Amino acid sequence: MADEKAVLSIRGKNIEFPVHEGTEGDVAIDISKLYPDHRLMTFDPSLASTAICKSTVTYIDGEKGILRYRGIPIEQFVTDKPSFIEVAYLLLTGALPTLDEREYFRRQLTENELLPEPMRLYFNNVPTTAPPMALLSAAVNNLACFHPEFLELDNDDDFMEISARLISKIRTIAAYIYRRTHCLPFMYPNPNLRYAANFLHMMFSLPYSHYEVAPEIEDALNLVLILHADHEQNCSAATVRVVASSRANLFASCAAGICALWGSLHGGANVEVMRMLAQIHEGGLSPEECIRMAKDKTNPFRLYGFGHRIYKNYDPRAKILHAACERVFAILKNQNDPLLNIARKLEELALSDSYFVERKLYPNVDFYSGLLLRAMGIPTNMFTVMFAMGRLPGWIAQWKEQHDSGGRIIRPRQVYEGNTLSDYVPMGQR
Ligand code: ACO
Repeated sequence: MADEKAVLSIRGKNIEFPVHEGTEGDVAIDISKLYPDHRLMTFDPSLASTAICKSTVTYIDGEKGILRYRGIPIEQFVTDKPSFIEVAYLLLTGALPTLDEREYFRRQLTENELLPEPMRLYFNNVPTTAPPMALLSAAVNNLACFHPEFLELDNDDDFMEISARLISKIRTIAAYIYRRTHCLPFMYPNPNLRYAANFLHMMFSLPYSHYEVAPEIEDALNLVLILHADHEQNCSAATVRVVASSRANLFASCAAGICALWGSLHGGANVEVMRMLAQIHEGGLSPEECIRMAKDKTNPFRLYGFGHRIYKNYDPRAKILHAACERVFAILKNQNDPLLNIARKLEELALSDSYFVERKLYPNVDFYSGLLLRAMGIPTNMFTVMFAMGRLPGWIAQWKEQHDSGGRIIRPRQVYEGNTLSDYVPMGQR
């Protein structure tokens, strides 16, 4: 209801607040005037109950396990098999492209798939042991040096042009990170290949031997990228928005998003899942021991790939990825991949354990994605880079909403618990 109010009663005062309701029934109490008018704050350290924006990009219902991009359920992207590029366009503009629009966008990507030559050489000068996510965030930020004309974006044509460049170049950057960290020569992109196939070519072709991309592998990669493309106000998207709110440019904001994604509680969990499965396979850990450690509150270990801030039901992306895993392994005649069997066993144990059932902890997107990437030949240290490649259109769409909202700088408050007024003590008297 437009004029609905929420009332807070504190210290003998009743304070009224406006209430906002989203198109899917989300209800938010607008406390933005709480501090300016009353010198009071709310305390929500992990922002679990705080909406930082209004958004039209992605909708999640965590109780029901629903995820929609611009209103379209992600399951429809599995049955109708659009390309990642089409889904990126949808996220960026709010509408599916017509055939002409898709072809134009595709051309923009193709024309921008090369890296500036000094950037390609930059990869020669980093250690082969460099963490891929450090290289990725640095390279995306570095693109600003080569595109100074896009540091300020004030029209939609420039926005789409630089979005296409970024989405195209991150693929080349990701492949070059792999080539460098594996001491392999760089392969230039092939303009005749589609997004996912072109990436696999840059990853796995050799100067003397062209990598033939199997259609089922190309489809699986396309699906992985689509399923990672956006997820509303997660840690990295919220980071992009915070940085954007200071009016920082798109490159800097996305580079910050990449850094946030790196952590093991967020995108880095796909690496941890694989480590955990490999450790079990090598006999260092049993599935039962894994579950026991995850439940032990004195142990920092987590069942990686399980649990989610928003989903209190099966993450719909995990469901699709699990099915895709089974499909791809069957086609590749590799159904007995020991790690897939271990993942199945862990899931079975967790979903019948009261700790996980009571807390509504289900597999999330990271539980099965790594197995699929592994089947494509992508090494574990590249998994989070793959996540970032998929997530980029979402970050860009979130950046644009933040930018276009003309909103104030995002600047939370704190409850100060440090020393009260104290005197400086000169060095000789300490
Ligand atoms: N293993 C063991 N216990 C868990 C796990 C897990 N994977 N996830 C949550 N819990 C426990 C919490 O410790 C908490 O227990 P308590 O009630 O006894 O204190 C309870 O379940 C509820 O946790 P939440 O409040 O729902 O968790 P939160 O929202 O703070 O964290 C997170 C979400 C970070 C995803 C968490 O579930 C986790 O650490 N999972 C493992 C890492 C992972 O897979 N991350 C990827 C998430 S998806 C993504 O970012 C792409």
